[in-house]
Amino acid sequence: MGAIGGSRPDHGVTSPGSRSPIPVMRPWIGAEEAAAAAAAVSSGWVAQGPRVAQFETAFAAAIGVDEAVAVSSCTTALHLALIVAGIGSQDEVVVPSLSFIATANAVRYIGARPVFADVDETTQNLTPATVEPCLTDRTRAVILVDQAGVPADLEAMRELCEPRGIVIVEDAACAVGSVYRSRPVGAGAYLAAFSFHPRKLLTTGEGGMLTTPHRELAARLRRLREHGMDVSAAARHASSQPVIERYIELGFNFRMTDIQAAIGLIQLGKLNRLIARRRELAERYQYLLADISGIRTIRDPEYGTTNYQSFWVVLPADFPVTRDELLRQFADSGISARRGIMASHLEPAFAGFGGVRLPVTEHLTRNSVILPLFHELTEDEQDAVVSVLRAAAGLPGLAPHSSPRPAPSEVT
Ligand SMILES: Cc1ncc(COP(=O)(O)O)c(C=O)c1O
Repeated sequence: MGAIGGSRPDHGVTSPGSRSPIPVMRPWIGAEEAAAAAAAVSSGWVAQGPRVAQFETAFAAAIGVDEAVAVSSCTTALHLALIVAGIGSQDEVVVPSLSFIATANAVRYIGARPVFADVDETTQNLTPATVEPCLTDRTRAVILVDQAGVPADLEAMRELCEPRGIVIVEDAACAVGSVYRSRPVGAGAYLAAFSFHPRKLLTTGEGGMLTTPHRELAARLRRLREHGMDVSAAARHASSQPVIERYIELGFNFRMTDIQAAIGLIQLGKLNRLIARRRELAERYQYLLADISGIRTIRDPEYGTTNYQSFWVVLPADFPVTRDELLRQFADSGISARRGIMASHLEPAFAGFGGVRLPVTEHLTRNSVILPLFHELTEDEQDAVVSVLRAAAGLPGLAPHSSPRPAPSEVT
């Protein structure tokens, strides 16, 4: 995510061999993915084709949903989701400002008006209490973001929205493998959109996926991602007879390539290991930061588990250094930490959509920091990150190699 969920101009992503000693994120990707991509190239079919179809089937099975439709990014997934949900230019869509800007941008692509709602301080997600004051006669949809991988409370939002005929689109960009009420995020959604950008757990370079239980929605999504054609290029190629396609409606080129899907299939096979390692490292961060007075870290909500796509900490008001000074201290130590999730309503691109007071959003975006967290982060590297934060807080650092591992009972 950059944003890690949130702010991501350079994403802080580095690959092995890059100069930053401790990046904020490094994808767990290597020889297996390279071989799969090479096999796709050697097959002679590199655009959307059989591997995309295979990836969709495997992804749908992993999430536990009937339909998965691969696209070029989560941004294009959100764009298409709003179209098939029937949102139009007269409509308002409630979104969190505290999200990567793509969430709000998608609303503008279809000519609708984004209305920014505040978020809950603990989960950094929308709740019925933050959304309700934003509802008007024109509200047709809510984009519910699972920020930084923390599942949002979909059932509670449904209770607010369904009686009013408001559609919920889940922006699960960050939340592949997170769990909501014992099921993978996306399993219970009308439409959920995932990202495979390298800041996310599972990457295809760029890429996205839409999931839905509705076959007719999936069919339209497949058409829309491919110029509105009534028969895919892969199906025409497979036919022994000439097939003349028709263009049923205005469509887009939002396709994923078979090279990306080949990588995605390997990555999907690693998802459980990716999540287990992140959760282990996150618990260790929580343990090692626990004695910094007033600091808050990302945690599981009571109704689910996060994949810890990003590890954010919110600094207390009396923290001895400012957030920006802390980021400088990380940079001086060769550590790529990042500001917390961005707030879209504060960006020039959204001037004119403001006039709103979003106190929790503004507090979180100004006072939080995202720490490095990735599969191959070592405990020594993690100790180096923690030492910078502890020193800034005026606490002693950690002795090299001597930091304790948390016992599960000690982690709250
Ligand atoms: C919450 C959220 N939504 C949407 C996106 C956009 O994803 P993509 O880069 O795949 O278009 C991101 C990416 O950071 C995100 O964090």
